[in-house]
Amino acid sequence: MLYRDFGNTKEKVSVLGFGCMRLPLNGDNPRDIDEETAINMLRSAIDQGVNFIDTAYPYHGIDMNQGGASEPFLAKALQDGYREKVKIATKLPSWAVETREDMDRFLDEQLRRLETDCIDFYMVHGINKSYWENLKALGFEEFLDQAIADGRIKHAGFSFHDRIELFKEVVDHYDWSFCMIQLNYLDDDYQAGEEGLEYASARGLGVIVMEPLRGGHLANNIPREVQKLFDEAETKRSPAQWALRWVWNHPEVSVVISGMSTMEQLEENLKIAQEAHPNMLSDQELDITGQAKSIFENKVKISCTDCGYCLPCPSGVNIPENFAKYNDYFLFGNPEMKDFYKYNYHVFMPEHEHAAVCNECGICEEHCPQGIRITQELKKVKEFFE
Ligand SMILES: NC(=O)c1ccc[n+]([C@@H]2O[C@H](COP(=O)([O-])OP(=O)(O)OC[C@H]3O[C@@H](n4cnc5c(N)ncnc54)[C@H](OP(=O)(O)O)[C@@H]3O)[C@@H](O)[C@H]2O)c1
Ligand code: SF4
Ligand code: SF4
Repeated sequence: MLYRDFGNTKEKVSVLGFGCMRLPLNGDNPRDIDEETAINMLRSAIDQGVNFIDTAYPYHGIDMNQGGASEPFLAKALQDGYREKVKIATKLPSWAVETREDMDRFLDEQLRRLETDCIDFYMVHGINKSYWENLKALGFEEFLDQAIADGRIKHAGFSFHDRIELFKEVVDHYDWSFCMIQLNYLDDDYQAGEEGLEYASARGLGVIVMEPLRGGHLANNIPREVQKLFDEAETKRSPAQWALRWVWNHPEVSVVISGMSTMEQLEENLKIAQEAHPNMLSDQELDITGQAKSIFENKVKISCTDCGYCLPCPSGVNIPENFAKYNDYFLFGNPEMKDFYKYNYHVFMPEHEHAAVCNECGICEEHCPQGIRITQELKKVKEFFE
């Protein structure tokens, strides 16, 4: 296993981390983890050098405000001496925090669920504009300072899902040790993207990458044209290999978390990690991932570039996010998956930002450099998701 420095923390982390959001299940119930297989996978990863495990309060649950099965599973899987071999990362459920006391309540509950005295890496989960304003108003800084001082957490960080401008504001606002961003060859300029990666790293933060395979979409059932491109490349590599190598190619990346759901996926990713050196891709190889990105992008329905010039909408519609969620379905989905995409839209986007809130005032359209007929397109988004 290769290890990289974790920002200025003096910690060394394995280049591959284990994500506990997509563990194997016994059936359809997300709480019903196939513990035997999952424990085997996790311990096998640790035996082969993985020392970074990522979970969160709601993972493997049904309600985002209730603790899921992932944290208690992890406590069980790390018995028999495995806890001492790894660093645990988990997260404060930002969306459920209503008072300053809630922060302590969640952290103390998580320590109990994880059966540990100290969480190595504690993150404020999924920061976006609305959670951020609330967290600042409630004094999250003092909570993190206190939790570090009394030893309940070792390092404080945040995971992020919003625009690059907010990302920079968050990085500069507090003395974070690390952050977690979504990064893969499709999302190089989405949310924090490569710009955010460089910004955070230059300020001494360790950077964890989530969704390196776009939740599996860059590895499984990829468009035929992309597969052809990979087949014709000089060096034969699986789609997962192309995608993971692209992420590890960035020297600023500390650890890549993949949510592996089978032993075969774990074995393949461990193998790819053996060659995870910074700047390993040639210009020719980068050109191939660039072409793959273009093929994916040609499938998008609304050519929104997420520039944000149309924001803020006076009614609160998160215009680019509505378009991104709609495009995602046409990029990766199929008719059987429509309910899943609808569920995602309603769970992961506050209702006051939905397309349905648009009153067709038309102000946004004056600002769109792509000339998108935003009101018309939002109607389609509304029809699709509501
Ligand atoms: N903080 C946040 O807001 C946040 C958000 C998202 C994720 N995360 C964390 O980041 C972790 C990683 O994100 P992710 O789970 O989306 O990672 P990912 O690596 O992009 O996607 C994981 C999925 O990719 C597929 N996969 C993995 N390795 C493969 C291989 N070698 N070949 C083929 N398919 C492969 C599997 O899909 P199938 O099951 O379909 O086969 C797996 O479930 C999560 O587990 C979680 O811990 C955090
Ligand atoms: S047309 Fe709709 S989305 Fe655009 S500014 Fe007006 S309310 Fe917002
Ligand atoms: S201005 Fe246009 S391209 Fe930019 S985010 Fe808004 S809709 Fe997308």
